[in-house]
Amino acid sequence: MDIKKLLSQMTIEEKIGQLLQCGPSIYRNFEEIRWDTLRSGEIGSFIRVRDPEMVNKLQRCAVEESRLGIPLVFADDIIHGYFTNFPVPAAEACSWEPELARRTAEVAAKEARVSGIQWTYAPMVDLARDARWGRNSEGAGEDPYLASVFAKARVEGFQGDDISSDTHVAACAKHFAGYSACMGGRDYNSVEMSCQTLYDMFLPPFKSAIDAGVATVMSAFHDFNGVPCAGNRWLLRDVLRDDLDFKGVLISDAGAVGQMQVHGYTEDERDTAKKAMDAGTDIEMATFTYNHHLKELVENGEIPMEMLDEAVERVLDLKNRLGLFENPYIDVEKANSIGATEQSIALARECSRKSIVLLKNDNKTLPLNRKSKIAVIGALAGNEDDMHDVWSGKNKNATTIYGALKANNYDAMYAKGYDLKTDEVFIEDANRVANECDVILFVAGEGVNYQGFMSGEARNRSDIEIPKLQQKLLKELKRTGKPIVAYIFSGRPLALRNVDETVDAILWSGGLGTEAGNAVMDVLFGDYNPSAKLVWTFPTSNGQSPYFYNHNNTGKPPIAEIWYSSKYIDAPIGAQYPFGYGLSYTSFKYDNLQISSKEFSIDDVLEASVEVTNTGDCFGEEIVELYVRDLVGSMVRPVRELKGFDKIGLNPGEKKTVVIKVPIKNLGFHNQKMEYVVEPGKFMLYVGPDSASGLETEFFVK
Ligand code: NOJ
Repeated sequence: MDIKKLLSQMTIEEKIGQLLQCGPSIYRNFEEIRWDTLRSGEIGSFIRVRDPEMVNKLQRCAVEESRLGIPLVFADDIIHGYFTNFPVPAAEACSWEPELARRTAEVAAKEARVSGIQWTYAPMVDLARDARWGRNSEGAGEDPYLASVFAKARVEGFQGDDISSDTHVAACAKHFAGYSACMGGRDYNSVEMSCQTLYDMFLPPFKSAIDAGVATVMSAFHDFNGVPCAGNRWLLRDVLRDDLDFKGVLISDAGAVGQMQVHGYTEDERDTAKKAMDAGTDIEMATFTYNHHLKELVENGEIPMEMLDEAVERVLDLKNRLGLFENPYIDVEKANSIGATEQSIALARECSRKSIVLLKNDNKTLPLNRKSKIAVIGALAGNEDDMHDVWSGKNKNATTIYGALKANNYDAMYAKGYDLKTDEVFIEDANRVANECDVILFVAGEGVNYQGFMSGEARNRSDIEIPKLQQKLLKELKRTGKPIVAYIFSGRPLALRNVDETVDAILWSGGLGTEAGNAVMDVLFGDYNPSAKLVWTFPTSNGQSPYFYNHNNTGKPPIAEIWYSSKYIDAPIGAQYPFGYGLSYTSFKYDNLQISSKEFSIDDVLEASVEVTNTGDCFGEEIVELYVRDLVGSMVRPVRELKGFDKIGLNPGEKKTVVIKVPIKNLGFHNQKMEYVVEPGKFMLYVGPDSASGLETEFFVK
């Protein structure tokens, strides 16, 4: 399709139409759609049309009844699967296996595309540094390097080599920018951030997605240093377009353009349209300011026609790249018959078990003896919805923990224990079941049935412990004297100190999706030895948020015995579980850290090698993490920064040498003049099992 030629044939109304996205949340049901608006070419895209017949019906109207026959593009939030639900993104990232994320995104893309969705609003690449924020589970954790690696993998999985293929979709890196740093952890709240933090911490995952060819970017809801993102010219044009070199479509978040008036940044709807277009927002999701005012703004010369044309051209180009001009319709029969397959379910099980983190295992409580009689206690153990967490796809089926144990003939009894919906605790029933069994499997954490979702958009919490009623129940169960294994689900880092002090073993994961129960069962009995590691710091208590490992040192670093040091008087200094932490049923020993040289120049690649030995009695996989610290800088540098990792498998007694390469040019930061620099001087290098331990050595950059 000759896009330039098409553009030259369009009326101003048709152009503006390409910049409007509608969906069922606006036109509550499709019978209310203004078909005449579609016919006149004044709607460019739809969100969340999940009925394949409706996709074709709308498309037919746009293609066959509008003057120029420009196809619609259908978007949706395909976050961790459509028919096969994989673990939520942050859980999946705990595998530290980007290749897995690429494969699950690929399956999700295929299931969505066949169903009529050509554009997903994923991956979310916001760093998660504050446990209170509701959307931690949608990203890849708190570290910019790890999040960048996963951003690339997910974009590649969704988009493949060619988004016109009928198995891939356009991806969308969101939410630009700094969205997760909302004050107080309260979604949509203002963000105040230095440019250095923005560039060094929050932008790298966006840059990685852009370099991987992400087709679209979504701007965020909040005001960044006082200017709402949807109207933030500096952020959208100078940073995103110029610095990060993004050439694709930029869409606002739902309603975010209209909300600029509520922020108090625009006078009225007309002013809103002007500021959003001037700032560089191409598509306005879910509000109508362009539709109502852009024509007049262009005709008055307040918005240049070239600016409008550029935005429209990007949208047409996206449709062209998606192959929609040639293949606008979907095969409804195929769409209605598609579902999870044997392979996609096997992938979901593999991915789920690799997402489960072992946080504690006293006295080798786990793996469980297959002959044990297990008291499975907790509503989350038996409810399919709770297995998914936010943004589950079209198919809500899942194996639950109790369901999987029973289906595989394990000796298990179930007690709900507490009801998240009604807040009732059934202690007697739980005690009865516990007393009849050898071991208690206490399943708790955040569910989807507790005042609605407990994590997700706008699901912020000021209390990041497990719900109080679950704690009450756990205390009761402790009295039975039986060993307790806690399985905790959550969409955020939790403060698990009380749980840690009470139970013998803890497994944790985010929502695991379709194969949740089977995967948990695999881990409980040692058919899979847990290998996942945390992608967030788990604090010890509520008040420590925001808490992340790659913080600066301060001039008075926390030391328990020193009164005037940067700490709390009522909480420990360290994390409950640090970033990168996770145990195994076996143990690993790190020895002999070597570094390829003691001195490097900017173009060199550092090679660190370490010997890792499996010192336990079963096969295990270990994630080997490499961190650096730039000891003196013209800006204060973080105490540690992840710069590389590897994942290896070792048989009992086996030793492997792991080599991790780090380009020296990756050790830089933005200085006070906002120049990216790698400064000469001394660095520390750490290689180990998590962000708080490991072997260390030093090197110099000249
Ligand atoms: C609002 C959310 O912030 C965003 O992530 C999502 O893609 C849109 N709604 C569309 O559902």
